[in-house]
Amino acid sequence: MAPVILLLAFCCTLLLYLYSICKQRPANFPPGPPRLPVWGSYWLLLLKNFKFLHIGFHKLAQKYNTKILGLYLGSFPAVVVNDYKNIREVLTRPEFQGRVKLFILNLRTYNKNLGITLADDGMWENQRRFSLRHMRDFGFGRRFAELEDIGKEEIQDMLDLLNGRREDKEVFSDGLALAPGLFYPVFFNALWFIISGHRFPINEHQNLRYFTRQALRFVRSIDVTGSAVVQTPWIRHVMPYYCGFTDLMEGTSNILKYIKEAVTEHKATYSEEHMRDFIDVYLKEMSTQKTQEASFFSEEQLHVVCMDFLIPAIIVTTSILSFSIAFLLNYPAVQTKMQQELDTEVGRDRLPSLDDRARLPYNEAFLREVMRKVSIVPMAVGHRATEDTQLSGYNIPKVSSCTYISKFWSSLYRNQRRTFQ
Ligand code: HEM
Repeated sequence: MAPVILLLAFCCTLLLYLYSICKQRPANFPPGPPRLPVWGSYWLLLLKNFKFLHIGFHKLAQKYNTKILGLYLGSFPAVVVNDYKNIREVLTRPEFQGRVKLFILNLRTYNKNLGITLADDGMWENQRRFSLRHMRDFGFGRRFAELEDIGKEEIQDMLDLLNGRREDKEVFSDGLALAPGLFYPVFFNALWFIISGHRFPINEHQNLRYFTRQALRFVRSIDVTGSAVVQTPWIRHVMPYYCGFTDLMEGTSNILKYIKEAVTEHKATYSEEHMRDFIDVYLKEMSTQKTQEASFFSEEQLHVVCMDFLIPAIIVTTSILSFSIAFLLNYPAVQTKMQQELDTEVGRDRLPSLDDRARLPYNEAFLREVMRKVSIVPMAVGHRATEDTQLSGYNIPKVSSCTYISKFWSSLYRNQRRTFQ
């Protein structure tokens, strides 16, 4: 009899223990699903939508009737912000400017606080300011004749491909051009020119496409929650491919390989008299600051900064254009209006340029509407509260590197109607 009683007592204790875990939440934490063993609320999130986590978050926020969702991703308390006012606060209040420190993401930054996207403390501010300031000198975010000419050449190249004047088997399938692959050279080469002063010529597009595939492997292998491999790191040893670990590691190291080669080549041909591109400017700053003990500048940091700019430049912009094509196919009347505006204002004998922009309001409105509608980054970079704080009356605790705030942009537009006219 005694063993049966013991077993029953054990089961009851276990159930009580699991129940107490489910109920564990910081005081005055935003409403949200319970914390289950091992993966916390992540189980329930996956149940809501296994493929698109932002939709899962959206459904949970609806279920708990809240604009700020509080939940546990594994053992990490997380807050998902769901409306304009709170998103603004997360983006602007200094105590929310920490970044989530997930081991899987640290593997991408040499296990250090590097880069821009995932860096915090002084590093983020310093490197963000420096990069934006100096990339501008080579055309980033402003008008720059040389870069505009390069853009035109790349677009002409793409048109040649579409018009059958040259071939690229990686872009066509059964006579159909594949997006976003079609757009990769245009965007990659524009940013690669700013960073390294070079472009991949047509006969090297294979290498360029290899690079973009690696970027895609990286982007697809990770989500804002860090995915299951963060909650249970051991699964990377059991099923490395299935949990995204292989793609994350290989994608990152293949991208870094390219960037490292470019930096090495720049160091070999560097001349202080002649700054050719962003890498040169960065190397110069490194040598200026090398005597300072607390410099943010290092070669590893340069690699990660380049990666932080290159990946979105390739993925985000080309995805937006692909969505634009899809919308144009679905709204032929809009396509006709855009073409009419182009024909009237630019004509068919030349490519449009930035000088034409002010005369093409309908084309511009269309692109802006696409960006609004598709919400291409539905869940942004995870932020971390660097101190105990409050948001809309709820407590947001500082839990070393774990409390993080994500932003759920698409819900801002959940009542949207068809707006292409
Ligand atoms: C329409 C296109 C784009 C959208 C919707 C978009 C969206 C975002 C969002 C939501 C963030 C997170 C901001 C935060 O949480 O603080 C971000 C960060 C970032 N994006 Fe983009 N992005 C776009 C295009 C680009 C492009 C083309 C580049 C590079 C050439 C780029 C580079 C970056 C970088 C470096 C960061 C990190 C900035 C930081 O942490 O301060 N993005 N982007």
